[in-house]
Formats: sequence, C-alpha cells, structure tokens
Amino acid sequence: MPHGPDSQATLHQRVTDAVGAVVEPDVELSLADLGLVRGVVVDADRAVVAVAELVPAGPWRDRLRAEVDAAARRAGAAQVRVDLVQLTDDQRVALRTRLQGPTKPTPEQAFSGARVLAISSGKGGVGKSSISVNVAVALARRGRRVALIDADVYGFSIPRMLGVDRRPAIVADLVIPPKAHGVSVVSVAFFATDEQSPIIWRGPMLHKALSQFVTDVHWAAPEYVLVDMPPGTGDVALTMSQLLPLSEVVVVTTPQPAAQKVAQRSAYMARKVNLTVTGVIENMSHFTGNDGERYELFGSGGGDLLAQQLDVPLLGKVPLVPALREGSDEGRPIVVTDPQSEGAAALDAVVDALLAHPPRRMRLPVVNVR
Ligand SMILES: Nc1ncnc2c1ncn2[C@@H]1O[C@H](COP(=O)(O)OP(=O)(O)OP(=O)(O)O)[C@@H](O)[C@H]1O
Ligand SMILES: [Mg+2]
Repeated sequence: MPHGPDSQATLHQRVTDAVGAVVEPDVELSLADLGLVRGVVVDADRAVVAVAELVPAGPWRDRLRAEVDAAARRAGAAQVRVDLVQLTDDQRVALRTRLQGPTKPTPEQAFSGARVLAISSGKGGVGKSSISVNVAVALARRGRRVALIDADVYGFSIPRMLGVDRRPAIVADLVIPPKAHGVSVVSVAFFATDEQSPIIWRGPMLHKALSQFVTDVHWAAPEYVLVDMPPGTGDVALTMSQLLPLSEVVVVTTPQPAAQKVAQRSAYMARKVNLTVTGVIENMSHFTGNDGERYELFGSGGGDLLAQQLDVPLLGKVPLVPALREGSDEGRPIVVTDPQSEGAAALDAVVDALLAHPPRRMRLPVVNVR
C-alpha cells in the first residue's frame, strides 16, 4: 500500500469511521454516536485508537477491544493498538444529556406509547418470573423493543433467569440497562450489595426505588414493558398504579381451585387501584408424559374459572415442562433454546393472545413539550 500523505489521511478516516460504527452492546448506539471514540492516530499502516468505556473495567472490555481492533484492521490498518480510556465527569454528564435529553422524563414519558404489563399472582411460586422472562424474550424475538423490570424487590430472580451476569453501566446517575436475549432489564439485584440479606422496604423507599427504575434508566422508548411483580398484592401494585396508571395486569394462576381464589385477590387489588386486568395465564396446566399422555397434576379448570369470574380472556395455558425450569436455572429461556417445544409454543401462544387483546382503555401518546 502506498504511504503518501493522501493515503494516510484516508486510512485515518477509514479507521475513524470503522471504529465509530462499532456498536456499544447495551445502549445499542454506535461509538461515534456516543462520542466514545477519543482519538485515532495513524502512522504508516499502524493505528492507535483510544476508546472510552462506559463502565470502567466493564464486562464488555475484551469484546470492545476485539471489535475495535477488528474494525481498524478491516479499514486497512496492519497493526492496531487499542487504548481504553475513561470519560471525565464532564464528558459523562454530556453523554447523559445526549441519551436522556435535557430533563429527566416523567414515568409516563419514559414509557409513552408502550404497553406496560404487570405479571402478578396472589401467591408465590406459580411462575410469574418464568412467564415474564419468556414472554419478554418471545416478544423481542418478534422484533419488538422490550423492557423487563424486576419489581420483585424481595426475591429478585430475573437476572439469573435471563442470564444477565453483569451490573448496568451508570453514566452520571443514568442507568444503562444490560440487555440479554434482546431484552433490557433492571433489577434490585444490580444494586444489592449482599444478595443474601433481604432488604426491608418501607413504603416510601419502595416507591422511590420503583420510580427510579422507570425514570432514571435509559429505556429508549420500549414498545412493551413487562413488570415481574412480587407475590401477593399490596405495596407494589399501589406504587405501579401511581407511577404508571395505564398499566395492565396479567394474573398468573395454577389449575387448582384453591390457587385461583388467591389469584383472584390480586386481580381485585389491581382493580381497586384502577389498573386494567387484561387476562389470565394458567401455568403448570398439565404434564405430557413420555407416553404422550397428558397428566393434570394440579387439577384443572382454575384458569378458566378465574378468567370467567374476572370477565377477562384466558390468555393461555402453559404446561409443566422440566426444560422450562432448567432454562430458568441456567439463564437460557426455553423460547430461545427450544422454540419448537411444547412449552415454548404455549408461551408463544400467550404472546399471540396478548397482542390480540390490547388494553380496553385508550393509551394516548404523551406529547413532550419543551
Ligand atoms: N411451566 C413450568 N414448568 C416447569 N417448571 C416451572 C414452570 N413454571 C415455573 N416453573 C418453575 O417453578 C419455580 C417457580 O417459578 P417462578 O420463580 O417463575 O415463580 P414465581 O411466581 O415468580 O415465584 P415467586 O413468587 O417466588 O417470585 C421455578 O423453579 C420455575 O423454574
Ligand atoms: Mg418471581
């Protein structure tokens, strides 16, 4: 390759463009758009590239270095050195403003135009978190922009189920939610210093934490927001109704009539605080044996009965499948690992039903007047 002044200028430009086009994986904006390319120096066919990391020593460090290196080589540099640098405080504030705009959004603005679905149940262990994760991922796989909020502040399980192994980047107090399987997620787990000791939430603290999950996070206009609720009724539903009054509630129940009675209470609570109940999902409906026979291990009819009593549709019945639990334990949702399976197909049908039953109330886009 000739090394005249022109070709140097061109190589410099090519490397700058190529490196700038590398996409930051959580924010999903290019390094150029984020202003993270801090310098490119070209000498003959050597390039030295300085790139700023969003998180100091972040989880993407190796990947970022490799992608920047590869981009510079593709652009024509024979030798590449990548220097990772930190943003200054001023640069961080500038970046937050670039991402968030000059003012923090209200909760309504943060989720303007999104459907907010709170996955609830009267009691624990019926599969709220498993369903939240799989429905969120299934929606993302259909090309929708999906946010998942782990509002189970007492027993957060979402990061593990979704396979998120890193804490979010924080840019001048703005939280950049990590993404896994196409879903952006926040959880108290990211901010807990000790996962073993439960946090005792008092009402105002809970309200503050949940409102920060909405307004202090760079959600980037999701179309669907799934909220994994803690078991029971109470505080979180009330807070949700105050923060996001147009949220819908989806009630998860198991097939036995006793479970359905408890689930009914969470639906009544939701209605008491004026949230719309969109439908019911029956989980652990049946188990299909190796013989192809269906076994109704937990009885039957609970989901139908609850849907009837609440006068809402039954959005689907999800069978009991060991692969669903295993997937949750390993952070590999079944809708990703085995989308053709009976369990994944049932979850996909739940997504179809959700899309077919938009909320009964109109959601007007919020006009952001500046
Ligand atoms: N359809 C299913 N088939 C097999 N296992 C399931 C199914 N649904 C949930 N599980 C398993 O049951 C357990 C409880 O599920 P999950 O944690 O999703 O329930 P939850 O309602 O969110 O519980 P909690 O109230 O404690 O938050 C988990 O181990 C999960 O993997
Ligand atoms: Mg849960």
